[in-house]
Amino acid sequence: GVSEMSLKVNGATRTFRAEPRVTLLDALRENLGLTGSKKGCDHGQCGACTVLVNGRRINSCLTLAVMNQGKEITTIEGLADGDKLHPVQAAFIEHDGFQCGYCTPGQIMSGVACIKEGHTKSDDEIREWMSGNLCRCGAYPNIVAAIRDAQQ
Ligand code: FES
Repeated sequence: GVSEMSLKVNGATRTFRAEPRVTLLDALRENLGLTGSKKGCDHGQCGACTVLVNGRRINSCLTLAVMNQGKEITTIEGLADGDKLHPVQAAFIEHDGFQCGYCTPGQIMSGVACIKEGHTKSDDEIREWMSGNLCRCGAYPNIVAAIRDAQQ
């Protein structure tokens, strides 16, 4: 059956009704209208759905919404500070870190975690950290350049 749950997303607690089996990704997109997180594969293989939970990146398609109650969830919609883009967002624009843009929210959320967790000592380390975020346009060199630049 449908039950009530609440999620703290981008600093605001939001309550909605959904089935217990709803994934965090579907809850964000369909119950909360936060469509920045993308559904590429829905199986943990593309990274398009990446969000931060308590500061750690996760594939939101692989976790149930109910399991994330009471945690701090950050999506691409919560990254900018008003009109001021997050440094990783600004760097993606600067370095053309996208073409079609579908994978970009997930790339940026992974990039934020990459920097926060200190995996930027070399381009290889950035590439390794970002290897779960696929880009079918092949913008990888620009994505790495954006993350390298944003951490400085
Ligand atoms: Fe979650 Fe692809 S949609 S990893």
